[in-house]
Amino acid sequence: MCGIVGYIGTKKASPILINGLLKLEYRGYDSSGISTMENGYISNMKDKGRVKNLYDLPGINDLNGTIGIAHTRWATHGKPCKENSHPHMDNSNTFSVVHNGIIENYVELKQFLLDNGYHFLSETDTEIIPNLIHYYYTKNSENTDRLLNSVYLACKDLKGSYAIEVLCKEEPDYMIVARKDSPLVIGVGEQENYVCSDIPAVLSYTKNFYLLNDGDFAKLSKDDVSFYDNNLSPITKELKNIDWDVSSCEKDGYEDFMLKEIYEQPKSVRETIGSRLKKDEKINFDDIGFSKEVLQKFNRIYLVACGTAMHAGLAVKPLLEKLCHITTIVDIASEFRYREPLIDENTLCIYISQSGETADTIAALKLAKSKGATTIAVSNVIGSSITREADYTIYTHAGPEIAVASTKAYTSQITLLTLLALYFAEVLESVPVDKINNIKEELLLLPEKLTEVLKDSDRIKDFAHKVYTEKDVFFLGRGTDYTVAMEASLKLKEISYIHSEAYASGELKHGPIALIENGITVIGILTDPFLVEKSVSNLQEVITRGAKTLIITNQELNTSSYDEVINIPNTNPLISPILSIIPLQLFSYYISKEKGLDVDKPRNLAKSVTVE
Ligand code: AGP
Ligand code: GLU
Repeated sequence: MCGIVGYIGTKKASPILINGLLKLEYRGYDSSGISTMENGYISNMKDKGRVKNLYDLPGINDLNGTIGIAHTRWATHGKPCKENSHPHMDNSNTFSVVHNGIIENYVELKQFLLDNGYHFLSETDTEIIPNLIHYYYTKNSENTDRLLNSVYLACKDLKGSYAIEVLCKEEPDYMIVARKDSPLVIGVGEQENYVCSDIPAVLSYTKNFYLLNDGDFAKLSKDDVSFYDNNLSPITKELKNIDWDVSSCEKDGYEDFMLKEIYEQPKSVRETIGSRLKKDEKINFDDIGFSKEVLQKFNRIYLVACGTAMHAGLAVKPLLEKLCHITTIVDIASEFRYREPLIDENTLCIYISQSGETADTIAALKLAKSKGATTIAVSNVIGSSITREADYTIYTHAGPEIAVASTKAYTSQITLLTLLALYFAEVLESVPVDKINNIKEELLLLPEKLTEVLKDSDRIKDFAHKVYTEKDVFFLGRGTDYTVAMEASLKLKEISYIHSEAYASGELKHGPIALIENGITVIGILTDPFLVEKSVSNLQEVITRGAKTLIITNQELNTSSYDEVINIPNTNPLISPILSIIPLQLFSYYISKEKGLDVDKPRNLAKSVTVE
């Protein structure tokens, strides 16, 4: 959940570390801290709250060490407070450690350490790590690579997930890092090396990275990085150039990352389409390369994910079923992994994750693999954990998404999965070519149509101003419009803290209509010509009971009975979620702003949920 940054080089480490933490704050933010080392002494400073608090701590500017580690915490064990903040040190103040993840067997390890005379100052699982390293270090005095070896032995005892950075005052020219089921990469500069859990943290310093795999260890000095596998045998790694633009990780003049990311959607959808779809050509998925025989083997497709990514799955289920004629099941990753889903070698399982680090989604993928299914990861983050587990990976290429509330990742996920469904249909020859061609043409028009939708933001802003004090909001739709209703409702809850519900319009009469009373806000999505009349009738039922209504539509309708109407461009109903979600993303955004909330960092949430 948290963010990790590390530096070893010739410059003063603390400003680099704090700058990196500021960029990573979106990953977790209940406290932060840094350790730097100079003259054989480790200085450790930390505080509860945002990184800004750390910035303001007296003495922080006096940290002159050129090696250091830093952390923003999203508590899993022990409340958010200064004592529980990282870095944690061992009892002798020799080792300093930051950790992302959860040590599942920390209770027994803590007992082991207590029995061996250690004591603890925090409630965290993390604090056992520096003490365990100390335990092995004292036993390991003959070893030539004593620090690396002690970290290795300590890690062998750990169950659970970790990305760690370790400083040792006895070995001031080195830092050791290790990972298992938590992200960690190493950035390379001139006479300096960086470590981070997420590339934007150090992207302004370097674009050259080594990606660590699960079970890897690395030993860093300012001039060198050595890698080791999970048996501590030396390994080599390829340096990768990460071609992300630094400015794309910053706000570019927008008030918030979320607003910037909403407005980036014409570009991000274009990037997702990339070279996979060209006018009058077949869809290109050479990187998957399934033959007709392989596709015919699949009798079931699972789309598995969490939150917004799961909603993207819901939006494309009809496409896969209608175009490929393969039964498609959408599942929540945390449910899928524990309910013994019916999977065998004839199942295709597709895992959708913006971050590629969502613990439940990764576990669900591992489960399907163990049962012989073919797995595809759909991710936005190159080299992320999920991409290393899946049989195949396809990237959304939406660019870094910083705001906790996912927007451009959602539209890119639907776009990419639509392309995949079209590709399957082309290979399978399962539907007439003109049906496929119509969707392909519409996909190519999306960037332009997205730009058009975004021009209507002022009207959304006005409507948000009228309803931001509401306690409850309802979203209604049928078919793919219902899937958009679910995503819109999640967005509103996440960043405005307003209670909201999404219902399939036809379900209204089966209970929820009891909640409709005078003045309540109901938002209807009506883009499917085959279902529009039925949805109109359902909306009339709530209007009769006094609801205030906003509708998002691309249909020719008598709109006189609605309080606000947002018209969006017409498209094939199977891909309309990519357009109809935009006004609703803006709606949540403006409500959040009206309420004066922190749009990018909503309470209790973190960008990437790397724990169950
Ligand atoms: C989206 O607005 C949410 N913050 C959340 O539901 C998110 O989509 C979910 O946690 C999945 O994340 P992932 O795509 O990185 O796996
Ligand atoms: N489990 C550790 C803690 O609670 C690390 C949490 C995190 O990843 O931020 O302190």
